[in-house]
Amino acid sequence: MRVRVHQHVNPLSPYYRFVPKQIEIEEVFANPDLPLLLDIGSARGRFLLKMAEVEPQWNFLGVEIREPLVVEANRLAKEKNLTNLHYEFCNASFALDELLANLPANLLQTVTIQFPDPWYKRKHAKRRMVTGDLVETIVKHLKVAGKVFIQTDVDFLAEEMFVVFRENANLSEIEITEKFFPVKTERENAVEEKGLPVYRRIFEKSNG
Ligand SMILES: C[S@@+](CC[C@H](N)C(=O)[O-])C[C@H]1O[C@@H](n2cnc3c(N)ncnc32)[C@H](O)[C@@H]1O
Repeated sequence: MRVRVHQHVNPLSPYYRFVPKQIEIEEVFANPDLPLLLDIGSARGRFLLKMAEVEPQWNFLGVEIREPLVVEANRLAKEKNLTNLHYEFCNASFALDELLANLPANLLQTVTIQFPDPWYKRKHAKRRMVTGDLVETIVKHLKVAGKVFIQTDVDFLAEEMFVVFRENANLSEIEITEKFFPVKTERENAVEEKGLPVYRRIFEKSNG
């Protein structure tokens, strides 16, 4: 059964301005020493569910603002006995730093932001996920040489996001030379089936 949820929620509403308990990775992963991939805006979590199956030597953490999707995704991970997969209910724009506060250094190797909600109208622009503050939080927790993979099908949002990432002095844009992941997200599949373009970039943490 597919869990029914609101299509979008407003990350600025007081309800979503909460600070989650910081994640204790030894409690959520069987082997907490594995390299970690964080997917921000994991939605129903299907991308990570498949990634966790094909890449058992990695841990996968999904962060999502719509709580029912998180509950259902964790249920599916448990049903499949995937001990390298976990999802957290968190407003990444508001409290990602607090969620990751206890993360051991040099563990976070990859971060993905895939097809974030564009919030098309100018009056809703403040609800968009990628801001300088979010990028700073990502850089703070990412290990050196760790990578951030971003993709969207919305051209103006792509440019807006890429600029914010380029403005961070600790990140360098690197060329995408090959298919980055063996798995596509739900939104990626839907966009590609329609033959629409996808804009992708990878940034690498160079220092700091
Ligand atoms: C268009 S969906 C894309 C889902 C998935 N990444 C994919 O590519 O299929 C964007 C997701 O980001 C989530 N999201 C939006 N703002 C968020 C925020 N501030 N913190 C966490 N998740 C957020 C939305 O609830 C939604 O599930």
